[in-house]
Amino acid sequence: MPRRVTIVGLGFVGLPVALSFARRGIVAKGLDVSEALVGELNAGSSRLLESDGEETITQILRRCLEAGTFSATADPAQAYLDTDAVLISVGLPVSEGRVDFGPLDRAVAALVPHLRKGLTILLRTTVPPGTTRRRLAEAVEAAGFTLGQDLFLAYVPERLAEGRAFAETASVPVSIGAPDPLSRQKAAEVMALILDAPCHETDSYEAAELAKLAENAQRDANVALSQELAALARALHLSSREVIRLTNTHPRVRLLDPGPGVGGACLPNAYVYMAHSAAELRLELPTFRAARATNEAVPEQLVDLALGAPRGNGRPKAAVWGLAMKDNSMDDRQSPALRVAEGLIAKGFLVSAHDPLVTGHTFQVATPAEAARGASVLYALVRQPGLDPVQPGWLDGLLPGALVVDARGLFAGLGDELRRRGLTLWSL
Ligand SMILES: NC(=O)c1ccc[n+]([C@@H]2O[C@H](COP(=O)([O-])OP(=O)(O)OC[C@H]3O[C@@H](n4cnc5c(N)ncnc54)[C@H](O)[C@@H]3O)[C@@H](O)[C@H]2O)c1
Repeated sequence: MPRRVTIVGLGFVGLPVALSFARRGIVAKGLDVSEALVGELNAGSSRLLESDGEETITQILRRCLEAGTFSATADPAQAYLDTDAVLISVGLPVSEGRVDFGPLDRAVAALVPHLRKGLTILLRTTVPPGTTRRRLAEAVEAAGFTLGQDLFLAYVPERLAEGRAFAETASVPVSIGAPDPLSRQKAAEVMALILDAPCHETDSYEAAELAKLAENAQRDANVALSQELAALARALHLSSREVIRLTNTHPRVRLLDPGPGVGGACLPNAYVYMAHSAAELRLELPTFRAARATNEAVPEQLVDLALGAPRGNGRPKAAVWGLAMKDNSMDDRQSPALRVAEGLIAKGFLVSAHDPLVTGHTFQVATPAEAARGASVLYALVRQPGLDPVQPGWLDGLLPGALVVDARGLFAGLGDELRRRGLTLWSL
């Protein structure tokens, strides 16, 4: 049974996973290329907003540091010393529609000199099909090891959702893909240290890789359907949320909610990873591509609504509530809400945004009321604590006749209040 594990990449996924081992008494070493992050973690501080019940990730981190079960390092030699299992959780960025394998290739290059018999490697990064074989299995075999005999490798995609990382690491079943049974068994033993749910095994890396992409891409496509449905519902003077609520009373139907678009690294990148693989095989994925394009277009469509809003004198002002890539999140990577804010600036608006969880943007202000003051258009884009439920008083400073664009149903039930104030509501 593994007693020591190394987690490579200590981001939104890697850190909570490492701490999930550490708080169960397994010695977990985290390896990250960011010296700053390593220093921060070893000093007992994390910017992530995860928690497990009452205990925050920072408290869990400090408890594990004190117990000596967690430490972070940027030095591969230290990270791989005496380890039984390696879990790789780096991300593969997408830039201009192309996959950047650099982080994984560098992680593999740093691992290879430390390979030894008996080691179990789990690739957890979301990847295009073929990646585990071509970029990891072949490197291990080139170093002289026989997979399934003296070294074990499986693809075990990560399924946790940010904000619920500890609970989902323990409770969400995972799939394990490897051609040989011993690698699958060894990977299952590693997962059993943190997971109290079943592992579903399959005998190829590629099946597990593609299934992970299908999970993400189907959610992307599902939102795209809801987005289109919302446009039709609005044209019919219906509430899309009411239509979706009714639709979902069917036991075999589960439409997701529309919103300002689909962001983050996971869902949008899934199509790019699939398209990468499809292109090698000279295949097209027109339905997935169309869904991606539908979601990609939403932020700009929302920005265009502001052009029809009444304007005061001088430079028009727009308020934006919520900048994160999804509800209850501090993550603004590839955030559609951020794209709305930036799109409004590009159209000449002065933007004041409020998000209680996101930091680092010059146009952010301290309260939703301050953001709304003097604005002729208000965008409610993300359901964040501190923005939900909406307090009518936050609207006091809006210009007369202002437009309220509600992409997340934050104003559901406030229609009368908006009418009383002479504000126009546009909602998804
Ligand atoms: N964030 C989520 O909720 C989520 C959910 C499921 C799956 N995933 C997948 O998990 C993977 C990681 O996602 P994330 O959100 O944690 O990414 P992240 O960007 O937050 O973290 C990645 C970390 O890896 C480090 N890193 C990069 N190259 C490295 C290398 N060569 N060696 C060591 N460290 C390196 C980075 O410094 C960073 O700290 C991605 O494939 C993502 O698609 C993420």
